[in-house]
Amino acid sequence: MSKQKVIICQDLRKDLYSAIQECPHDRLFILVDEHIRELCLPLISGFGYLNDANIITIGAEDVHKNVETLVHVWQSLGDGGASRHSLMINLGGGMVTDLGGFAASTFKRGIKYINIPTTLLAMVDASVGGKTGINFNGLKNEIGVFSPAEYVLIDTEFLKSLDTRNLLSGYAEMLKHGIISTTGHWAELLNFNMTNIDYKALQALVAKSVQIKEGIVAEDPFEKGIRKALNLGHTAGHAFESLALETNRPVFHGYAVAWGIVCELYFSHLRTGFPKDKLRQTVQFIKDHYGIFTFDCKQYDRLYQFMTHDKKNNAGIINFTLMGEIGDIRINQSANQEEIFEMLDFYRETMGC
Ligand code: GLY
Repeated sequence: MSKQKVIICQDLRKDLYSAIQECPHDRLFILVDEHIRELCLPLISGFGYLNDANIITIGAEDVHKNVETLVHVWQSLGDGGASRHSLMINLGGGMVTDLGGFAASTFKRGIKYINIPTTLLAMVDASVGGKTGINFNGLKNEIGVFSPAEYVLIDTEFLKSLDTRNLLSGYAEMLKHGIISTTGHWAELLNFNMTNIDYKALQALVAKSVQIKEGIVAEDPFEKGIRKALNLGHTAGHAFESLALETNRPVFHGYAVAWGIVCELYFSHLRTGFPKDKLRQTVQFIKDHYGIFTFDCKQYDRLYQFMTHDKKNNAGIINFTLMGEIGDIRINQSANQEEIFEMLDFYRETMGC
């Protein structure tokens, strides 16, 4: 897989111009959702060199991350005269960069694309690393391909207008990057003031977070091994997210990941000796910032069922990414039903639900 170029922008107008120059094309398309069209597109539509771009608009939110929306994007590319030499810019959150990346990677067997993430979640995770896709059959990101953007342009100015819940959602993925990297980075994330944000300091943390992800993706682009580290918190997290959706109380992805981290660090403590004090500090941070997702023991079976669909599973065995210490990653750790129920018990007792 070719390596994508990730730029932490100081001047988006200039950086996007250079990126486009590096991607010779006949026609240019910009994909946005209906919210981004209103909120963020005006910030770039004044760039003179985008005057001739075709704008493709899709519905906002995860509920539109489906095959119907994908067809709409393919259709719009076709109607707009896209060829194999066209270029697409995905401007938006993770839903737009995931679906747009998949649409671009499959249209005429693949056209080049650039991601401009506008949410923290998309900046530190979704837009970087070449995972693209859509939801299918009630399962998240069930269909997709590994196919990196040519460029990912990260402009943290977009974060200034992001609401707290969206910021925290992305921050959970940063916390994950802290846990899988170094004690220093983990500690600076726990100590960062999320209520009175210093955006310059946040930009530096974002840059570090992206660097951690890029390092792992460069080593294992197709998730055969170490890239599974990036799934810490996601086995339980995706199950929470699916249960939340099924019971009509959808939650932000990052919140589900944070709650998943509570379960999986507890299991790390039991199975691979993750230190108790670091478990306690991380859980406290999550409890203070993310609140609680409530469920009762009658829903354990359903959560377990959701986990059986996790992409890391092998021959029906549910696999987790665990930690022996901050930075000490242990992939492919299986857990049986009893152990999973024990994680859920710990979650409910500790979080107080
Ligand atoms: N979101 C996890 C990964 O990109 O591998």
